Order: sequence, then C-alpha cells, then structure tokens
Amino acid sequence: MSTPSLLILAGDGIGPEVMAEVRRIIDWFGSKRGIAFEVSEDLVGGAAYDAHGVPLSDATMARAQEVDAVLLGAVGGPKYDALDFSVKPERGLLRLRKEMDLFANLRPAQCFDALADFSSLKREVVAGLDIMIVRELTSGVYFGEPRGIHKEGNERVGINTQRYTESEIARVARAAFDLARKRAGRVCSMEKANVMESGVLWRQVVQEVHDADYPEIALSHMYADNGAMQLVRAPKQFDVIVTDNLFGDVLSDCAAMLTGSLGMLPSASLGLPMENGRPRALYEPVHGSAPDIAGQGKANPIACILSFAMALRYSFDMGDEAARVERAVESVLADGLRTADLMGPEGGTPVSTSGMGDAVLAALDESL
Ligand code: NAD
Ligand code: IPM
Ligand code: MN
Repeated sequence: MSTPSLLILAGDGIGPEVMAEVRRIIDWFGSKRGIAFEVSEDLVGGAAYDAHGVPLSDATMARAQEVDAVLLGAVGGPKYDALDFSVKPERGLLRLRKEMDLFANLRPAQCFDALADFSSLKREVVAGLDIMIVRELTSGVYFGEPRGIHKEGNERVGINTQRYTESEIARVARAAFDLARKRAGRVCSMEKANVMESGVLWRQVVQEVHDADYPEIALSHMYADNGAMQLVRAPKQFDVIVTDNLFGDVLSDCAAMLTGSLGMLPSASLGLPMENGRPRALYEPVHGSAPDIAGQGKANPIACILSFAMALRYSFDMGDEAARVERAVESVLADGLRTADLMGPEGGTPVSTSGMGDAVLAALDESL
C-alpha cells in the first residue's frame, strides 16, 4: 500500500504553534513505529491571504482533494477582521469544508479524570464524561441563500438563510446513528422544531432514518436551547448528539468547557469515501487562532494532537495507535503537567506549548 499522505494547513495565530507539536508526533510514528506519512504543508486563512490575496488558493484546494487527510490548525485574527467577507480567513476553512463535502463534523468531548476538578462544573457532573457531538458542517445558515447585507429604504438589513434538504439531514443522521452503534446506542437530535420549519423537517427526517434503518438505537429529540441547558446541567445523559451547523458550533464550544478547556477539544470533519475507501477528511481542533495568547508559547496543543489521533482512527484505521496517543495525553495530564489554560487553584506543573509536546512524546516513548 502506498504511503498515506497528509496535508498540513497550520493557518494563523496559535495554529502553527500547536501544529508544530503534531508534526513531532507524526515524525515519532515514522521513526519509532515504522508508520510513515508523506507530509506536505501549505497556507490557509490569513497566512494564505498575505501570500496570495485569497484565504485558500485553488492549488491548495486541489491538493486538499488529493491527499488522504488534511490537518488544519486554526484561521483568523484581528489583523483580518476588517477584510471584505469574501476574503476573510474563515472563508478559507469554509471553502475546504464545502468543496470537500465534509458534512459530518465529529466533536467528541471527553473529560480526562485529571481535569475533572478543573472544569467549571462540579467533578461529579463531568467525571467520566464521554459524549460525541455530530455537527452538520456543509449546509444550514452558514451557506443558505439569500444572504448578505442590503439596503432597505434608509436602513441596512443583514440576511442569512437556514436551509436544509432532506438528503442533507439524512446523511448526517446516518453518521450519528452509525457512531452510536459503536458507542452506548443513544442519539439525541437537537433543533428548534417549535419555531423553525427547517427544525420540523430535521426532526421528521432523523426519525424516519431511525425507524427505517436504526430501530435499535434509542433516539430522542430536544429543542436546542434546552439541549444547551442540559449539557451543563447533566451532560452524562448524552451519548451522541446530532445537530445542525450553527447549533453544533455553539453547543460544541459549550461542551469544551465540560472537559476543562477549549484547548482540549479535537474534531474530525468527514465526507464520503474516496476511491481508496478512506473518507474525505479534515482534522481540526475546535478552538480558533486565540490571538490573545498567540506567539507566547502558551497554547495548549492537546486539541490538535487529539485531532491527529482522530485522523489515525478515522482515516487510517489505526484505532490502536490513536488510543496510544490518547493514553499518552492522559498520562501527561495525570502527571500534573498543565499549559496555562489548564492551570487552576489546585496547581500543577506549568508547561509551555512545546513543553507539553515534549511530555507527550516522552509518554509515547514509554508506551513502547
Ligand atoms: P478562540 O477559540 O480562538 O479563543 C477563545 C478563547 O479560548 C481565548 O481566550 C483563547 O486564548 C482560548 N483558547 C483557544 N484555544 C486555546 C488553546 N489551544 N490553548 C489555550 N487557550 C486557548 O476563539 P475567538 O477568540 O472567538 O476567535 C479568534 C479567531 O479564531 C477569530 O478570527 C475566529 O473566527 C477564529 N476561529 C477559528 C476557528 C478555526 O480555525 N477552526 C475556530 C474558532 C474561531
Ligand atoms: C469552528 C469555527 C468556525 C465555524 C469558523 C472559524 C468558520 O468557529 O470551527 O467551530 O464557525 O464553524
Ligand atoms: Mn466554533
């Protein structure tokens, strides 16, 4: 079999900082496990705008379609906030998601035991937490037409449109049910069917897919506002949550704090299989470019490292190696190593971004 290919798009702000640690882990797999990847790097977001005047060049887009998996750091930053919407860094990421048709965004939120006291919620509420948010990623209000800012009379109107076809809903529902089959067998679908027609259709289609093909899965429906409340009240009631693009964005940031920090949450954005059977895939931490801490060596690289673990699992069928990375992260946290975002009153050993990378590599060495 040919060497699996990875395209690294580190992006902006802390993106390159956290990706540098992932790069070391990729090299570790090559030298210590004989698992080699053909790695290429390119620009996305503000970095691509600075070089090419666009947040994602056509050449980079084409390369992303060719490789087995894309790893993305983060995009955006204050320097680019005033740019025209069409060339903002975030558009580069949205183009990748749309053109690769990455409709299922898997955002697992797991609370490592060592961080249970650090969460803003009580230990008993979050200890042992293991939920999976499946966010629809290529449609909904992020992409619906009409959109824009128009003049109506003498005032401006901002317009975005929530739009879902039943096939878009059905395919992300299937992704959620398939995951639930390998987990605790429960799916909670979240929308606002009480106020939005797109929510009514969402609920109907999820139920239909369930009744036709996944009757053994325990399916429930919840309004997304209640879902947000339940997520912080009693998050362990959930196994898999499936929801639309915007609700999924908000709910997953919320879930991040259950695990202790936004710097902990990885994600996998998956599409349909390619000819070689691998899904089209982009792996990205849930967090952004964190301009407030960029360039200071403070960023937590764990979300990005765990995103690479997801790549091992979902693109390369190396679940055991993914688990090896996850266990390494767990042991480093158990040893009390903490980047600044994880530093609470109970203390710990402060480490920089690269210090955390060193520790994960040492734990990987110990796993051999
Ligand atoms: P953000 O996620 O960048 O930061 C929110 C807060 O979390 C900040 O205080 C930041 O310091 C902290 N944080 C985030 N990641 C961290 C990490 N790994 N380690 C330690 N602390 C971390 O969100 P924001 O400030 O709302 O957005 C900043 C920029 O990032 C914006 O331009 C936004 O559009 C962009 N963004 C990009 C992505 C992405 O590329 N996937 C995701 C979200 C936001
Ligand atoms: C995320 C981010 C993105 C989103 C932005 C940067 C386009 O917030 O991945 O969660 O809204 O999807
Ligand atoms: Mn987000």
